[in-house]
Amino acid sequence: MTDIVTPLIEGSPEAGAQQARAALSRLRAEVAKVVVGQDAVVTGMVIALLARGHVLLEGVPGVAKTLLIRTLSAALDLDFKRVQFTPDLMPGDVTGSLIFDARSAEFQFREGPVFTNLLLADEINRTPPKTQASLLEVMEERQVSVEGSSRPLPDPFLVAATQNPIEYEGTYPLPEAQLDRFLLKLTVPLPTRDEELGVLRAHHNGFDPRKLREAGVQPVATAADLALGRAAVQRVAVADGVLAYIVDLCRATRVSPSLELGASPRGATALLAAAKAWAWLTGRDYVTPDDVKALARPTLRHRVRLRSEAELEGVTTDNVLESVLATVPTPR
Ligand SMILES: Nc1ncnc2c1ncn2[C@@H]1O[C@H](COP(=O)(O)OP(=O)(O)OP(=O)(O)O)[C@@H](O)[C@H]1O
Ligand SMILES: [Mg+2]
Repeated sequence: MTDIVTPLIEGSPEAGAQQARAALSRLRAEVAKVVVGQDAVVTGMVIALLARGHVLLEGVPGVAKTLLIRTLSAALDLDFKRVQFTPDLMPGDVTGSLIFDARSAEFQFREGPVFTNLLLADEINRTPPKTQASLLEVMEERQVSVEGSSRPLPDPFLVAATQNPIEYEGTYPLPEAQLDRFLLKLTVPLPTRDEELGVLRAHHNGFDPRKLREAGVQPVATAADLALGRAAVQRVAVADGVLAYIVDLCRATRVSPSLELGASPRGATALLAAAKAWAWLTGRDYVTPDDVKALARPTLRHRVRLRSEAELEGVTTDNVLESVLATVPTPR
């Protein structure tokens, strides 16, 4: 089935974009060959790739976070790397470092794991702030600067970061200013009973998570499709009323009695970018208020902070965002 990789159509951006969209729509089915369920996470990843954003993945151990990102890389024919963040990890272990080469008597740059397309950064809150900061810097700048020269990272470059949910001693929770740099926070839920049965059946029949090609995963879209898609996403129209809706939603989070920190203007721009990518992915060239609603939770949930009173009452950030969505008037 490798012959369905999209060829570029020269001279016609619209036709090229349509083919790219068709190719990207096949990703979900391709990932579903090995990952049971988790459609929303796959869609969120594609939105982030189109909007050139990064994602936080939240989910308990063993819900296929790693498998999903690896499978997506295979289905997009992209390079994948994983870094386990530990207390002793140094910035150079992430970005790369200068190594003295005795033969040439010169320093050579050895690329760190950020030189990839999809980087799974596991448990970033287990590493001290200095190493976290080096990752966040390359996420933003998409290049590594060493000794005055800068090396661009491959394109696309997306970081999917997981955080250890248990706040035990020796974790360094990311401050909001850094969480704000992630476009989306995607929750990876536990499977339903039927889905879990599907996982067991696959394993019983010999599925080996290390051998994705053997399980039938093929590249169905490419970096070229993503590039065409990005260009098309930029052409997506947004009415003034929809722009105002995004601003009003973010402003409402800032006055919510349950929150001590609301969404920033960066959060508002992120919601705009994510809604445009989603609108295009679903086949439209304009954003609707429903697109904004669909992306509000994954885009804003990590950018707001609950008051401790609300937290004690069992309120979640998603609850607060739901009530904001229910109260801010929707443009027609
Ligand atoms: N939804 C699923 N579909 C298919 N396989 C699954 C699913 N959930 C769990 N599995 C199985 O569980 C294994 C563990 O998944 P994986 O290592 O990707 O989890 P993880 O979320 O990355 O865990 P950790 O947080 O410990 O890194 C997978 O290799 C797969 O065999
Ligand atoms: Mg994992």
